[in-house]
Amino acid sequence: MKNYLTLGQNDVKKAAKSLKDGQLVVFPTETVYGLGADATNQRAVARVYELKARPQDHPLIVHIASVDQLFDWAIDIPNYAEKLAEKFWPGPMTLILKKSEIAKDFVTGSQATIGVRIPSHPMAQSLLIEFNRLGGLGIAAPSVNKFGEVSATTKEMIDIEIANLLTNKDLVLDGGKSSIGIESTIIDCSNKIPTILRPGWITEEMITKFLDFKIIDLKYKSSIKHSGSFQSHYKPKCKIILGQEPQIGDGMFALSKFKTPPGVIRLGAPRTVEEFARNMYLALSLADRKKMKNIHIIPPEGKGLAEAIRDRLKKASHT
Ligand code: TXA
Ligand code: MG
Repeated sequence: MKNYLTLGQNDVKKAAKSLKDGQLVVFPTETVYGLGADATNQRAVARVYELKARPQDHPLIVHIASVDQLFDWAIDIPNYAEKLAEKFWPGPMTLILKKSEIAKDFVTGSQATIGVRIPSHPMAQSLLIEFNRLGGLGIAAPSVNKFGEVSATTKEMIDIEIANLLTNKDLVLDGGKSSIGIESTIIDCSNKIPTILRPGWITEEMITKFLDFKIIDLKYKSSIKHSGSFQSHYKPKCKIILGQEPQIGDGMFALSKFKTPPGVIRLGAPRTVEEFARNMYLALSLADRKKMKNIHIIPPEGKGLAEAIRDRLKKASHT
């Protein structure tokens, strides 16, 4: 049963006010939808953890309206991090930095760092700007899903994931389908050398080329909690099988160049790697809605976004 109200672009002010009053607002971003709470409101943030059944020590990303606000949330910001922010924000990139006084333990999972991002989705941008006008410093928002499950990229997926957990005071902003479809690239900038903790649309090549020095050590073992530290994550209820022949009645998701064997139910045939990322979580959610036992996926090859897709699929198929 749905309790919450769904709103559009004209109601962004109302949503910002609701957030400021301590309610939760689900909002679209270009990566995946976020379950937003005022990042300085302990009770609102606690509700996010409760709804997601998320471990307390698993930190949230704070979404801000402008690069200036980065200095509210972080200290000792290295020069390279400022450069990355200027270049890739607004966009699908999260920077991990040493936290300021404002970043309390209840949002950072008691770590000494804070994750910050400026999303580029127009509705997220207007929400953040309105929230800032009301004196809000940032919106803490994890992906919309139960802990360890698939992130919502459409309004329909939100209805399935958390609709019955929201109250009639919470809001959902419907901004259509997320255009990227997988979560932001997370870059740890709390050291001299930046490290990618979670691959995404902004790739290692893009960062290295832009900063003009080879800096990313993917083998670096970070002690901080992040999605990369879990072997299993982004999991639907059905079983994901990689690189095997699908059987009759199984689901299949692969690039359009791969044919569907007879009796197999095709859940998507993206033409490009970008389209693959955009539709992947939707296909997994569809397989669950159809109560399928197995979904066969042929991961795209190559570097860049394909690597980020393979990272998610590896964790989603972990048994
Ligand atoms: O694209 C995204 O990043 C989406 C949208 C809504 O912005 N958000 C998202 O949030 O994916 P979530 O909570 O599902 O995943 C955030 C990841 C978690 O794995 C968390 O551990 C990591 O970011 N993270 C957040 N703050 C961190 C910190 N201070 N240090 C290390 N990892 C951090
Ligand atoms: Mg998540």
